Parts: sequence; structure tokens; C-alpha cells
Amino acid sequence: MTRIAIYPGTFDPITLGHVDVVLRGLKLVDRIVIGVAENTAKRPLFDLQTRLEMVKETFADESRIKAVAFSGLLVELAHEFGAGAILRGLRAASDFEYEFQMATMNRRLDESIETVFVMAREDYTFVSSRFIREIASMGGDVSSLVPRPVVQRLHGLRN
Ligand code: PNS
Repeated sequence: MTRIAIYPGTFDPITLGHVDVVLRGLKLVDRIVIGVAENTAKRPLFDLQTRLEMVKETFADESRIKAVAFSGLLVELAHEFGAGAILRGLRAASDFEYEFQMATMNRRLDESIETVFVMAREDYTFVSSRFIREIASMGGDVSSLVPRPVVQRLHGLRN
């Protein structure tokens, strides 16, 4: 049986912290579907199509990873792909409250899907999409913190 996990997020933009979580997740399951959420409530900097493209390009060489955009419920996306798990990364204790609420709510929506947490590598515990956007918008260098397709898009924003 193929074990599939969904890795959901806004990915505005994807960072090397996200990439690290996905690579750790691949040790636990056979395939990962990365769900790029439309998440209009967060008013993303990059539109959905661009966020999806950056994720796809980042994992272009990894056949066990697929990236899709979604706008509905996460548990429904999990059903669509036959995923038994939701993968999330934890950086610091401050992530816990939000993650706990989300995992508990998703479990209420579907008891059969387990949320699995992995801890991102120490080097990336301070990396967040929000800081990447802020630093890049002020001309700071984030090239060691994001995948190459994101570096290109961030440069594009300033030109
Ligand atoms: O990494 P992020 O940006 O905090 O990801 C948030 C995300 C996309 C995982 C969350 O907003 C989500 O699951 N959205 C889909 C809608 C949904 O299922 N909501 C109920 C879960 S509490």
C-alpha cells in the first residue's frame, strides 16, 4: 500500500525550512502531495499560481512529490489523494498553539487522518515566509534561506 501525506501551507513563498520538512517527511511516507492553499484571508504577496510554480520548480527532480493548489478544506484534499496523514513542521514552542488547534480541528473533521509533525533543521528554526518577504522587500539577501526559484521571483519583485 502506498503511504501518502499531504503537506499543506500558504507557501508565500516556500522556504528552505519547508523543503527540509518535506525531505524529512519522505522518510516516513512514499509520496507527498504539497497543497498550496489559496488562503485569501492571509492576503498573500505572491498569487496562487506563482506560489504553486515556485513549489513545483523546487521539487521538479523529485518524482515522489506532487504539488497542487487548493481552496477548500484540507481534509477534502486528503480524501482526493487518498492521503492518510497531514504533514506539518514545528520550529519553536510558539508554533505549537496554532498547530495544536489546527490538528485537533482536522481530527474533528476526519478521525481517520493523522497529523504528523517533524522538526525542521536547527539552521531553519528562525526562517519564516513572513521574514523572507520583509527582508527581500527591503533589499536584504535571503538567497541562503529560500530555493532558487524563489530567489528569482523575489528579484523580479524589486525590478
Ligand atoms: O503554513 P500556513 O500558511 O499556516 O498554512 C495554513 C493552512 C493552509 C494549512 C490552513 O490554512 C488550511 O489548512 N487551510 C485550508 C482550510 C481548512 O481546511 N481549514 C480547516 C483547518 S483548521
